[in-house]
Amino acid sequence: MNNLRHMMNPLDFSVEELEALFDVANDIENNMSAYSHKCDGKILATCFYEPSTRTRLSFETAMLRLGGKTLGFADAGSSSAAKGESVADTIRVISCFADICAMRHPKEGAPMVAASNSLIPVINAGDGGHQHPTQTLTDLLTIRSLYGKLGDFTIGLCGDLKFGRTVHSLINALTRYTGIHFIFISPKELKVPDYITEMLDSKGLTYEEVIKLEDVMPRLDFLYMTRVQKERFFNEEDYIRLKNFYILDKAKMELAKEKMFILHPLPRVNEISVEIDSDPRAAYFKQVQYGLYVRMALILTLLDMTDAHMNEGLLR
Ligand code: CP
Repeated sequence: MNNLRHMMNPLDFSVEELEALFDVANDIENNMSAYSHKCDGKILATCFYEPSTRTRLSFETAMLRLGGKTLGFADAGSSSAAKGESVADTIRVISCFADICAMRHPKEGAPMVAASNSLIPVINAGDGGHQHPTQTLTDLLTIRSLYGKLGDFTIGLCGDLKFGRTVHSLINALTRYTGIHFIFISPKELKVPDYITEMLDSKGLTYEEVIKLEDVMPRLDFLYMTRVQKERFFNEEDYIRLKNFYILDKAKMELAKEKMFILHPLPRVNEISVEIDSDPRAAYFKQVQYGLYVRMALILTLLDMTDAHMNEGLLR
């Protein structure tokens, strides 16, 4: 059990290990058919206690594209969690059926509990407002593929910076690269948590906090938009007041660099107008595609099945 490798947090992998993972993902992008039997006979379990479209389906697609099979549940109510079964017991059971498990849970730390009771690799597919490591891997791979490197850019993170686990996870991961300036764009009620700005301060990294998107738009190389998350609000009134605080439209895009990229973990609600989808700077659907490649690479890595030449330095 001790030799198992899990993915709980993007920082579980060193920068060098991530580079190797992204190299595999880019190789999959260019040579998908070469990977179509890499996981023959393997089974991925997807245990989703919270709703998902992209994460669950991209994990399932990833395993199917690798030649493996999938099983799982997409609704805690249809599992024995509804009868009170613990996450620890559930993963012990899943360990008897599958070779690897992706788990999403509303409780922060639940996938970690699973990992510490598991006989198979566990991937955190999102835990409450805490971490969403495979979204972060997706974001990093997208940035690296579109910009050519992970560093030397200004990124604006806009919207719900308080509850957004994708934002917290991404900021954390980006602190390991050089030359990145963060601009946090949010209403004061949805400010990035203090522990994040304190962490940036302690590392001597530069950031600004602003309310108005237009004020900073011309300086951005990446704009990471996020949804105001209804499910994390304690009262409906606050959600209604803040949900349309930012709407990215053509007028705002006129202020942006020609080479700026718009990212969004999706799903979107109103924060990016659909008129922007045809703008060449809109990269959020490309980002979904990169999410598939990186999840394929991660499954291979955790199952210790990457080609030896791709594998150097990646696996402990
Ligand atoms: N980005 C993301 O996590 O999307 P889903 O909630 O649809 O999985």
